[in-house]
Amino acid sequence: MNITIVGTGRVGSTLAKRWLANGHRIIFGTRDPDSEKVRDLLAGLGPDASAKGLAEAAREGDVILLAVPWEAAIDSVCSLGPLKGKVLIDATNPIEMNFDGLQRGLLVGHTSSAAEQIASVVDARVVKAFNQAGTDVMARSDVSESMHAHFVCGDDEKAKQIVVGLAEELKYRVVDVGGLRQARLLEPLGMLWIHLCFLRGHGANFCFNMTNLPK
Ligand SMILES: NC(=O)c1ccc[n+]([C@@H]2O[C@H](COP(=O)([O-])OP(=O)(O)OC[C@H]3O[C@@H](n4cnc5c(N)ncnc54)[C@H](OP(=O)(O)O)[C@@H]3O)[C@@H](O)[C@H]2O)c1
Repeated sequence: MNITIVGTGRVGSTLAKRWLANGHRIIFGTRDPDSEKVRDLLAGLGPDASAKGLAEAAREGDVILLAVPWEAAIDSVCSLGPLKGKVLIDATNPIEMNFDGLQRGLLVGHTSSAAEQIASVVDARVVKAFNQAGTDVMARSDVSESMHAHFVCGDDEKAKQIVVGLAEELKYRVVDVGGLRQARLLEPLGMLWIHLCFLRGHGANFCFNMTNLPK
């Protein structure tokens, strides 16, 4: 599959490595494809990874992963050009990405979500995923479905199935939470992970699981 990843930071580069290892092609959408940072990233990823401007990268992707800070999310998706029919995975958590921001918590919630706000400005099939564990977890190929339940939601069932597949490839137990509105639940779950990691001393090597008890 051709996967466009918007953002060449921690989430973008980590999931790129995992999906490249599974045979996908990665096209980064970046503000500056010629920057040293992007050149260094590509040098470590091999021939199936490339970087382009935002709209050009978006044109090439069957699926687009949005992995930018919340403050840049709406501008970034609006710079991707026409997205009709494309699957857009929203991995953002609507927080300010600094220590004060972590303490303040989510900037959107209860009556809306980052995913719904993104969906309201683009004509794409938006699915929320990959926001509930940090990149240390995403990077690990020894995480299995008995360890990590990964929650996804979205209004388009076929789009959601594609994203379920991309998460199952990482060996997560994927749980469909319903429509995109349920991002109002998944973003607080991401915030819980961040809180436990950065403010409660649990470090970055943990993830959430879901246990079905015997009847
Ligand atoms: N870090 C985690 O463990 C984690 C886990 C789950 C979800 N998330 C969420 O995923 C998103 C990305 O997180 P991240 O940790 O990958 O962030 P990051 O390391 O800071 O990378 C974000 C990337 O977004 C791009 N970008 C576009 N506009 C930007 C702007 N105005 N300011 C800064 N960067 C901008 C940059 O790529 P270019 O310079 O190439 O454009 C940058 O490398 C966030 O919404 C975060 O809440 C993070």
